[in-house]
Amino acid sequence: MNKKVEVLPDLAALIARSQELILSKIEPAIQQRGQFTIALSGGSTPKPLYEAIAQQKLPWDKIHVFWGDERYVPPDHADSNQLMARRAWLDRVDIPAANIHAMPTSDGDAAVSAAKYEQHLREFFHCSASEFPALDVILLGMGDDAHTASLFPHTEALKVRDRLITVGNKDGNPRITFTYPFINAARCVMFVVGGANKRPALAQVFAPVADNSTYPSRFIQPQGELWWLLDAAAGLELKL
Ligand code: 6PG
Repeated sequence: MNKKVEVLPDLAALIARSQELILSKIEPAIQQRGQFTIALSGGSTPKPLYEAIAQQKLPWDKIHVFWGDERYVPPDHADSNQLMARRAWLDRVDIPAANIHAMPTSDGDAAVSAAKYEQHLREFFHCSASEFPALDVILLGMGDDAHTASLFPHTEALKVRDRLITVGNKDGNPRITFTYPFINAARCVMFVVGGANKRPALAQVFAPVADNSTYPSRFIQPQGELWWLLDAAAGLELKL
């Protein structure tokens, strides 16, 4: 694992650095594989990042957008990660509709939707049932409980190692989420974390010893690049 940690002075600098890192991955991916694949995180931190990327002139027809997790709500629901990303970014650029790979949330059963998305990913990446395809970039946030994507502490989703997608659970509310082995297959995993409220969780995630099921972001140990981009409020006292 190739882990890098950067602490930026404030949220604006965190967003600028995160954008810079993402943009640096696009051309090499297109040159090597003809496309760039990225999975988005939800929540509030990435919104200004998505707004910044929407200002860029990029080869949108070669960029494919996925989600690392999604609340199990309709795509027009205020809690939808897809809706946030569309409003902040995707509706503002001429990316082909077919390049936006939203997680399905209208099957009435999260397990059915998770299986559907898994099938879609396997077809898109032309991979067999036992392979874990590598996305170019997976963006992640981290909750103050050290969850990431929708991999919440002490939930069944943390035990799933043979699939790409599973059902997460937040306080009884179903989510669709990448599994941690699928996240770990990525070429580059980027945590973008801001705010003093994340300090205690970060201390546990970076601790030499702690329980992974209690602090699920500890499961994220990709073979490729692992970036922790933090603002000073979150990362200043971190023992690196
Ligand atoms: C979600 C996210 C989730 C998020 C963290 C951090 O669906 O909520 O994918 O994993 O990244 O909860 O959220 P904030 O950035 O809002 O603190």
